[in-house]
Amino acid sequence: MNIAIIGTGNVGGALATQWSKKGHNIYLGVQDTNKFKGVELLKNEHTSVSSIGEAVKKSDTILIATPPTAIFDIIELMGDVSGKVIIDATNAIMKRPEPFATVYHCLAEQTDAKIVKCFNSTGFENMLNPKYGDDAIDMFMAGDSDKAKSVAKELALDCGFGTCIDFGKSDKVDLLEKFALSWINLAIMQGHGRNLAFKVMRR
Ligand SMILES: NC(=O)c1ccc[n+]([C@@H]2O[C@H](COP(=O)([O-])OP(=O)(O)OC[C@H]3O[C@@H](n4cnc5c(N)ncnc54)[C@H](OP(=O)(O)O)[C@@H]3O)[C@@H](O)[C@H]2O)c1
Repeated sequence: MNIAIIGTGNVGGALATQWSKKGHNIYLGVQDTNKFKGVELLKNEHTSVSSIGEAVKKSDTILIATPPTAIFDIIELMGDVSGKVIIDATNAIMKRPEPFATVYHCLAEQTDAKIVKCFNSTGFENMLNPKYGDDAIDMFMAGDSDKAKSVAKELALDCGFGTCIDFGKSDKVDLLEKFALSWINLAIMQGHGRNLAFKVMRR
């Protein structure tokens, strides 16, 4: 896959690293190609940097891992995204992209892309290493596009997640952000530490 990474910090960096190891072409899309968080990602295989517009042009899949309020600038800079898959990994927990509840809702209203909320519900360390002993933790996704969900699932499996569980359609996007807040509550607010994760058990 050709993947644009917009937001090359903790989350974008972890996923860019995992996906480059699987042979995907990674196009980092940054505001300033001379100075950006994650410059060390250029040491990864199949990885290059350019403007956001150039990275998007070269890609069929786009990861957004920035502060949620940056989405308005990013939509302008991305240019035409019709038919492309956008994976929204943001959480509008501290600050919403007003008047929208989440980045997913903003993208759904303002673009013709196929959108999925995914890679938002656990810490970036778990994206770099989803293995707990012999087990692998789960990822979760929500949205209305089956195509975007199938891409997100493939990329979650490429990271080493056990599976990527369908959390529901766009009416469950808010809930998936609250699920992320539940992880933040346990890991940070309740002090259990960031080395914890969710896995669905069945019998
Ligand atoms: N940290 C986690 O474990 C975690 C887990 C799940 C989801 N999330 C969510 O993922 C998102 C990113 O979190 P993070 O921890 O990866 O943040 P981070 O390390 O601070 O990285 C943020 C990235 O966003 C870029 N950025 C900021 N404003 C931008 C703009 N206007 N246009 C383009 N790029 C812009 C920054 O680029 P510059 O270097 O150029 O400033 C940086 O690469 C947040 O919404 C967060 O809630 C985080």
